[in-house]
Amino acid sequence: MAGELGNRLNVAVYVVGGFVRDLLLGRKNLDLDLVVEGDGIAFAYKLAHQLGGRVRQHKKFKTAIIIYINAAGEEERLDVATARLEYYEQPASLPTVELSSIKMDLYRRDFTINALAIQLSHDNFGKLIDFFGAQKDIRDKLIRVLHSLSFVEDPTRILRAIRFETRFEFTIGPQTTKLIKNALHLKLITKLSGTRIFHELQLIFNEVSPYQSLLRMQEFAVLEAIHPSLKLTPAKSHLLKEIEKVLEWYRMLYTKPYPEAWIIYLLGLTSASKQEEVESVLERLHLTASQHNEFMTLRSTVKSTINLLGKIRPEAFSQLYKMLSPIPLEGVLYMMARTKSETVKKNISHYLAYLRNTTLDISGEDLQLLGFPPGPAYGEVLRKTLFAKLDDKVNTRQEQLDFAYR
Ligand code: CTP
Repeated sequence: MAGELGNRLNVAVYVVGGFVRDLLLGRKNLDLDLVVEGDGIAFAYKLAHQLGGRVRQHKKFKTAIIIYINAAGEEERLDVATARLEYYEQPASLPTVELSSIKMDLYRRDFTINALAIQLSHDNFGKLIDFFGAQKDIRDKLIRVLHSLSFVEDPTRILRAIRFETRFEFTIGPQTTKLIKNALHLKLITKLSGTRIFHELQLIFNEVSPYQSLLRMQEFAVLEAIHPSLKLTPAKSHLLKEIEKVLEWYRMLYTKPYPEAWIIYLLGLTSASKQEEVESVLERLHLTASQHNEFMTLRSTVKSTINLLGKIRPEAFSQLYKMLSPIPLEGVLYMMARTKSETVKKNISHYLAYLRNTTLDISGEDLQLLGFPPGPAYGEVLRKTLFAKLDDKVNTRQEQLDFAYR
């Protein structure tokens, strides 16, 4: 549809970036990024009209997002950017070269593997455009920048390179490795805003294997460049590996909502730090006030709970429930990774699988029918009955009613 529209408007349209890369890698990717050689915003409005969607435009950057409902009834987004014809200044007295706009657009990107395009318009429908040897790099499993100033232009690309390297099991090329080291030597990370670093870290933590990326970050000394307290030690490294295992286990067994991985990894990364140091890490990452407070509260709750968990009598499930149910899932999973006790691990697993979802077969209405005067006492009676159920003292509805009535 986008290609046909391009033909009618006489502009070249390309699908670019991650979608094309993942197509060649045989990986699923539903995020479409289009580049139009012409007026991208006008194109987006016309395409949105055909798709029955709406447009959010960014005039300054000549980009737009089309938001529409796909055939499966889900909301989808389509990014549309404008490729501008630009004149590329050559040094000294060489003439200025005119690069075709799509080539220029691709040249500005981070890595060769992301600088691929497929033409959708005109007679070239489906033509793969590879100016920078991306197909070869995909075959050789290499992450390579397109030019030597790439990390200077955008130091977040250091974190992106590591993320892609881990995700695809590629290797950062030798020249690109040198450029990363050079960028770190120039302390370019310190120039980045906390918000941007935090965003990139979150993307890393949401991947399947953040641990490998954390090890690479340590090798490049990126962690300490973000904040000295984040530097890995053998103990922290072990804990982070355990966190990855626990999260993998959780995602395999349970459905969404998944926990926010960054909270758990950041608890791990700051596990050996003093309170003031942790506060300073959170300030560097520019967390919002509520993220900051919730994180600090969770950190101290986890610290005080983890020892108590080891002291619970076997099968004292109501006690376990009382201890864990007020704690956010992230904290519960962190404790599971942190503890060395197999009994505590088993208890947490039992809490997640059964206890946290236990409900009663009776409600406040039943209490009213039993003649209880309505009021706050209802909550207390129901709570006690739930604890009795957790401890396997009452099972059937009748047993629960009898217990509540005692
Ligand atoms: N890009 C870039 N420099 C950055 C961020 C992004 O050059 N610092 C470019 C890349 O070429 C990328 C495109 O913008 O392909 C879109 O960015 P993003 O959606 O983050 O990249 P994807 O490659 O689609 O990553 P993912 O698979 O993680 O969604």
